[in-house]
Amino acid sequence: MAAPRKIIIDTDPGQDDAVAILLALASPELTVLGITAVAGNVPLHLTARNARIVCELAGRPDIPVFAGCDRPLARALVTAEHVHGKTGLDGPTLPEPAMALQDAHAVDFIIDTLRAEPAGSVTLCPLGPLTNIATALGRAPDIAPRIAEIVLMGGAYFEVGNITPAAEFNIYVDPEAARIVFGAGVKLTVMPLDVTHKVLVTASRNAAFRALGTPVGAAVAAFTDFFERFDRAKYGTDGAPLHDPCVTAYLLRPELFSGRHVNVEIETLSDLTRGMTVADWWRVTDRTANATFIGGVDADGFFALLTERLGRLR
Ligand code: BDR
Ligand code: CA
Repeated sequence: MAAPRKIIIDTDPGQDDAVAILLALASPELTVLGITAVAGNVPLHLTARNARIVCELAGRPDIPVFAGCDRPLARALVTAEHVHGKTGLDGPTLPEPAMALQDAHAVDFIIDTLRAEPAGSVTLCPLGPLTNIATALGRAPDIAPRIAEIVLMGGAYFEVGNITPAAEFNIYVDPEAARIVFGAGVKLTVMPLDVTHKVLVTASRNAAFRALGTPVGAAVAAFTDFFERFDRAKYGTDGAPLHDPCVTAYLLRPELFSGRHVNVEIETLSDLTRGMTVADWWRVTDRTANATFIGGVDADGFFALLTERLGRLR
């Protein structure tokens, strides 16, 4: 096997963030250098707590967890308790974390790690609003060429929006940060709603998690049960989309996914379409391509991978 790929997971757990983290921690192809929490689905003190709960659930209290930015660059924080519950991780009953939060700020950890590791060896995996990543890029522009790739969950084109008619939650919450990240000149792969809405936790896929017969399997089944009540009512589909694990699955099995390398710009000026990801899918402009925008996925392959890997955790 090739040397494991080094990643930093930047996250706002969130049940789907939790599954993305568990998939990474279950996979020997990935080395998680650290987890950086950001305000998003719920306020920062809860996302920093939830990230540690997930590490402990995976039996990995050794993973360093850092708290980052507690609000977007230029706007008031918008949260999503209506989807994720009061704690952000509602569903299973899990113990309060015993592991400590690191003293350093998440942004310093991101900058220091990218400067310390060989250039081109660290991949950033943002699963929430892009505030931490944009702050790091703004404070230390020298890190941009050192980033191997950014693979993020955010945005939408054909699916348009989930928090407003025009925008996906992660980009909507901090569009100024997203604009910085999409304009940074870093290799960028984007998992928008166009692909995540094809990865649905049907009853039989949920049953497969539960059938693992482990605490992790039970927790993941309970996580997906919890947010399903919201998405099922909203979309009328037979299961909830598992957004953030698309990022981890892409790192492990990119051949499960398909997309186009196109220009993607972020709307920051309009109140009506704030946070819209204007993707030039049909290549009707001469704007330079800056992102691989994913649209297709082999959903059965995705769930086979996820379930097998979760089965490696106890
Ligand atoms: C994204 O928003 C959050 O609610 C989820 O965790 C995911 O990152 C989906 O729009
Ligand atoms: Ca998230």
